[in-house]
Amino acid sequence: MRALVARAPGAPLRVEEIRLPAPGPGELRVRVRAAGVCHSDLSMVNGTLAPAYPLVLGHEAAGVVVEAGPGAAVPVGTQVVLNWAPACRRCWHCRHGEPWLCAANTAPAVPRGETADGEALHVTLGLGAFAEEVVVPEAAVVAVPDDLPPERAALLGCAVLTGTGAVRNTARVAAGESVAVIGLGGVGLSVLTAARAAGAAPIVAVDVAEAKRGLALAAGATHFLAPDDRLSKEIRALTEGRGVDHAFECVGRAATIRTAWRLTRRGGAVTVVGMGGKDDLVSLSALDIFHSARTLRSSVYGSSDPDREVPGLAREVGDGTLDLTPLISGLVTLDEAPEAFDRLARGEGARWVVTF
Ligand code: APR
Ligand code: ZN
Repeated sequence: MRALVARAPGAPLRVEEIRLPAPGPGELRVRVRAAGVCHSDLSMVNGTLAPAYPLVLGHEAAGVVVEAGPGAAVPVGTQVVLNWAPACRRCWHCRHGEPWLCAANTAPAVPRGETADGEALHVTLGLGAFAEEVVVPEAAVVAVPDDLPPERAALLGCAVLTGTGAVRNTARVAAGESVAVIGLGGVGLSVLTAARAAGAAPIVAVDVAEAKRGLALAAGATHFLAPDDRLSKEIRALTEGRGVDHAFECVGRAATIRTAWRLTRRGGAVTVVGMGGKDDLVSLSALDIFHSARTLRSSVYGSSDPDREVPGLAREVGDGTLDLTPLISGLVTLDEAPEAFDRLARGEGARWVVTF
């Protein structure tokens, strides 16, 4: 079976032959039909995150169940979205309505299978979805309708769940509230889409790449601004001098968290969606924290329960309420995936989706 493997941080990506075990009790073998290239994968390629190698990349995917292990109940032939944070339903967080913080999901890389020459292999977030097949626990799949196009279904598993969840569950954006979104990759564009669906206005998109303007406006932004010296003034001009009710940081850097903070009104909320590095420190003055009365919080996996929310998102995509068209920049083959990683690193397009 062929899979996209990272050998070490910074090493060129290669498509390799790998072997996976047969599905054990409660596990499924899923033939992957589509998998999106997410910035978190790039972070494991460029060394921002350095889990364990050799590593099969990919965690945003959809496929079809082709084999069920003993006791697994999902029928063969079901189209499923992969869930990189399967909830144990037993730990403190699961029992207190926070399955996205399940204590069982802490490892960015999980040992599974082996390379062609018998070396122990790891898979990203328990999935390793840039592969013709994955073997996963039953809790790591959510069934979706067969007629949902796989490249759209795939995005539900990370960017869309994360972006819509940040708006709906974490920040609870209400109609008429003002929103700024910093960083317009798959995640930021999905935040824009959900903010528009929530009736937010104005919705200001911010990105260093001017090329994101068209995508941002198509996804739901009412304005597009560059993160330069004029940004604060321009945002205040759009919000009667106050700043936005909600700012979403979708880059994963201290500097952009600081920008999000600055653009938010007194009493407003900053939601950090991007995953930054452990040594990247955010500096805020104690007086500013008190006086601004802002809330700063993060949104992990959209503060969502994928088992509950992915089917609803699939329905919204099916009936056109949620239009994912602006998110998908192109479909590529597994052999073209390394080039798609280069494009993501250069900030080109939104999501590149590998189809099988
Ligand atoms: N200010 C504004 N925008 C920026 C800045 C900056 N200083 N630096 C980068 N950007 C923009 C890039 O131009 C790009 O459009 O942020 C966007 C990031 O998009 P992607 O690389 O496609 O990332 P995405 O997959 O959307 O993930 C974003 O969320 O899940 C996490 O790990 C992920 O931290 C990452 C974040
Ligand atoms: Zn992701």
